Amino acid sequence: MCGGSGSLRDPNRRILIAVAQRAAPSAVRAHCMPHTVAVLLLLTRPCLALLKPARRVRPMSSLDPSKSAATIADYDAVAAAFDAGNKDHDVSQNIDALLEPITAERPVIVDLGCAGDRDLIALTARGCEAWGVEGSPAFCALARRAAPGYTVLEQDFVALDLPAESFDGAYANAALFHVPSENLPDVLRRIYESLKPGGVFFASNAHGFGEDKEGYTDGRTPSTRSWVCWLSDDSWIRYCEAVGFTLLDSYYRGSSKEFLATVWRKP
Ligand SMILES: C[S@@+](CC[C@H](N)C(=O)[O-])C[C@H]1O[C@@H](n2cnc3c(N)ncnc32)[C@H](O)[C@@H]1O
Repeated sequence: MCGGSGSLRDPNRRILIAVAQRAAPSAVRAHCMPHTVAVLLLLTRPCLALLKPARRVRPMSSLDPSKSAATIADYDAVAAAFDAGNKDHDVSQNIDALLEPITAERPVIVDLGCAGDRDLIALTARGCEAWGVEGSPAFCALARRAAPGYTVLEQDFVALDLPAESFDGAYANAALFHVPSENLPDVLRRIYESLKPGGVFFASNAHGFGEDKEGYTDGRTPSTRSWVCWLSDDSWIRYCEAVGFTLLDSYYRGSSKEFLATVWRKP
């Protein structure tokens, strides 16, 4: 009967039979019950899955949604404090290095990983039209509030989406070393494509003192962390040359020369 006593132990079948018994008119119930149930089971087989408890989708760990998303979340969690502590950091040497090879009268510059507004303001004061790209929504809000006239795009570097051949310069100060090495060729290609022919690309990155290393660092809060990719100078240069850039200049910065600044031209 109704698939045998074994199948009645299946809770899904018991539910279907109960539904069928309630739905069938009482006069035909006794005769038709086995067939009704069989037909119902056949017709509703695909629905059995819906009667099973839904398999829980494991929530993504706050520590590892993805390498770049984790990094963005790490900065986002401390954006206001980071911005306050970062405002007076003097990077004029880097802005000089970016602008010196650019001849356009009012260069259009994209600041990749602009955080708050420090370098957007500095670039504007130097006669540039400054755009910001930033992954952290909190930093974007800070940059837009401080400087409502700027174009600040909320984008993850690994999905960078900029207008083609639009910028005289791309400025990435202490930002691209957060890009995982597997994404770096694509990110550099996107930067290259956004530059006008002859455009200049500046990047300052924590480097690997001759080695290539990458991984998560301790976060800025107990529940967040950042991905860092420290490359040897040779590797960084190879990545940039592979997309077509020509090296113009390089120097080290930081108390232990831990940052490598490089300036590149798109031919
Ligand atoms: C060390 S801070 C440097 C900020 C600023 N350029 C400066 O010189 O002070 C790194 C910046 O890169 C941003 N960032 C890190 N990973 C990112 C990603 N995958 N996409 C977009 N922005 C990212 C962070 O939110 C942060 O603003």
